[in-house]
Amino acid sequence: MTRPPQRATAFAPASASNLAVGFDILGHPAGPTGDRVTVTRRGEPGIVITGVTGVAGPLPMDPAANTATVGLLRMLDEVRPGFGLEVSIEKGIPLGSGTGGSAASAVAGIVAANALLPEPLEPAALFRYALMGEAVASGAVHGDNVAPCLFGGLVLVRSAEPMDVVTLPVPATLRCAMARPHQRLDTRAARQVLPSAYPLHDVIRQTANLAGVVAGCCTGDLALVGRSLRDVLIEPHRAALIPGFYEVKEAAMKAGALGCSISGAGPSLFAWCDGDAIADAVCDAMVAAFAACGVASDGWTCAVGGPGARVEEVS
Ligand code: HSE
Repeated sequence: MTRPPQRATAFAPASASNLAVGFDILGHPAGPTGDRVTVTRRGEPGIVITGVTGVAGPLPMDPAANTATVGLLRMLDEVRPGFGLEVSIEKGIPLGSGTGGSAASAVAGIVAANALLPEPLEPAALFRYALMGEAVASGAVHGDNVAPCLFGGLVLVRSAEPMDVVTLPVPATLRCAMARPHQRLDTRAARQVLPSAYPLHDVIRQTANLAGVVAGCCTGDLALVGRSLRDVLIEPHRAALIPGFYEVKEAAMKAGALGCSISGAGPSLFAWCDGDAIADAVCDAMVAAFAACGVASDGWTCAVGGPGARVEEVS
């Protein structure tokens, strides 16, 4: 009889979410950085976190409080595979950076553990467990980082519970430039500055812009995408939390971006661009603008419809 797998490692990429017009419902992977989680079978039930390494500061070692393990606890409880797990987490995504670090840890843990189960889980179950980890970090259930991180692609989360995730077409030349300031912004704090109600005319403008972005992606009309990539609901309230926001956004637009706004809850910014050359120039302009404001940052460019999490090793 073959010995069942004892250990698995999964990688889950960073992601850009909200994307100006889709608060809590739109996102795409934004690698190459990401988090890596290794799970190892143990004879006793339950979970032990054996290590956290990488770019994160101190993280909870209590499995009931760590985003990488909250969903895993529930998975073990419901699936009852007959073993527990040792979990080690390698953080490639800084905490509170607006690039989907908590989602990546949650997704990598679930994807790794899934590789040890006798019967792999359905995508909707993986999504549900990963969402539980993400909710610990932000205090709300939203799948705009978990869905692209898990499945890859430019995704619309029409509903998180129950899962209804739609993969949108990505125009061939569409690229994303990212700029991540070396500062931390807590997602809960960034959610607290948002009003609980909005004027109807703002909701109408945002709805029209969301429809414009989706229609532009479906038809390959980047001019429409550019006209529509405007956030009238969230950005005006969160911009003040990000030193240099308006300067960096202006620099991105001057360098030729189609649109630029906050990545996730911030403080990172994303800019969609037509082609690699413009994305490179926009990325440089964003990092330089942050620097001119006295804010150190790093930047990179990525595809908009890149791949999601992957199992790297099973032994
Ligand atoms: N949609 C979320 C927010 C992403 O903006 O609060 C952060 O996790």
